[in-house]
Amino acid sequence: CSASLDASKLKITLSETLKPLQPIETLQFGKTFSDHMIVATYDPAVGWSAPEVKPYGPIALDPASSCFHYGGNAFEGLKAYLGPDGEARLFRPDLNMRRLERSCARLALPPIDGDAVLELVKRLVNIEKRWMPEESGYSLYIRPTIIATRPGLAVTASDHALLYILASPTGPYFPQGLEAVSLLAVSDNVRAWPGGTGSHKVAGNYSPGFLPQIAAAQQGYDQILWLFGEDRRITEAGAMNFFVVVKRDDGDGLDLITASLDGTILPGVTRASCLALAGDPEFQKETSLRLHPQEKLYTMSDLVKWSSEGKLLEALAIGTAVIVGPCNRIGYEGKDIVIPGNGLGPVGTALRKKILDIQEGRTNWQGWGVV
Ligand code: COI
Repeated sequence: CSASLDASKLKITLSETLKPLQPIETLQFGKTFSDHMIVATYDPAVGWSAPEVKPYGPIALDPASSCFHYGGNAFEGLKAYLGPDGEARLFRPDLNMRRLERSCARLALPPIDGDAVLELVKRLVNIEKRWMPEESGYSLYIRPTIIATRPGLAVTASDHALLYILASPTGPYFPQGLEAVSLLAVSDNVRAWPGGTGSHKVAGNYSPGFLPQIAAAQQGYDQILWLFGEDRRITEAGAMNFFVVVKRDDGDGLDLITASLDGTILPGVTRASCLALAGDPEFQKETSLRLHPQEKLYTMSDLVKWSSEGKLLEALAIGTAVIVGPCNRIGYEGKDIVIPGNGLGPVGTALRKKILDIQEGRTNWQGWGVV
């Protein structure tokens, strides 16, 4: 019988020299890492090893490891924030952990107990507390990753795995901060398809997007708006979920629209949180916004129509890394759909503010902030 991951067995080897902290204004997303990482291995004979905190550094792997050949890699991204009370908080981490379990299962990686991973995340956050910036909008980005380490080229599931958890102090995701990003709508390359892995957080979803991303940048666009199908359904933006705010015909406020979870969309934690907030009467009262959250199939024709009728008010890229970020134009068929304003509009601003208030512990909302 093989051992499951057990956070209570954590061995701690601390670094003898600590790195100097970096001035926050020079932080770029995912470039700086803290002093330590957590590592555990899975071997079919014994199960999960006792996890270990050790100094951040290179790991040695057999070059025949399955991850290098067949892409076995599932990961998560979540942030730890320092609150005004000096406590570190995670944001709805249970959702990340359930998703990690699902991603591992989808890649036939050895099973992992997300609750144990969460316990390890908490231990790492506490050890790395000095890396948590106090400034609003800054946090410690946590990247739990599980890779397939079965040595050998057989095209089969990996019965060996390595878990590692990294911590990276971080601020705004985009170099331009909260200024709007431009999107190029792309349909010749697709991010995900029915029956694929688009609804799982696996590394293989990301690297095929790099070449189209370079092509979009050459045409002057910051990110890609990923379309799918003959009817040009709108799916995601870059590595993020995508929302639009549309004025309703019946005069009853605004629709907040995003693609439904049809298997091609990543079930984002910030996505779910924005939908829940938008539909909450208390949030609507607090913000004087009348919102109708809608998860549905919508297409580029809808977007073109809403824009021409002056009803397309906001376009938002939403994810853990960016939180809520504005988009100002969408390139499609040689023209730009222009979204008014060059920063967050009222809905984007209200959602971002509320989520940051919860993340940074200024308010408690449905237990979403976890100390
Ligand atoms: C997010 O956190 O929004 C993402 O999915 C992007 C991440 C891969 C950096």
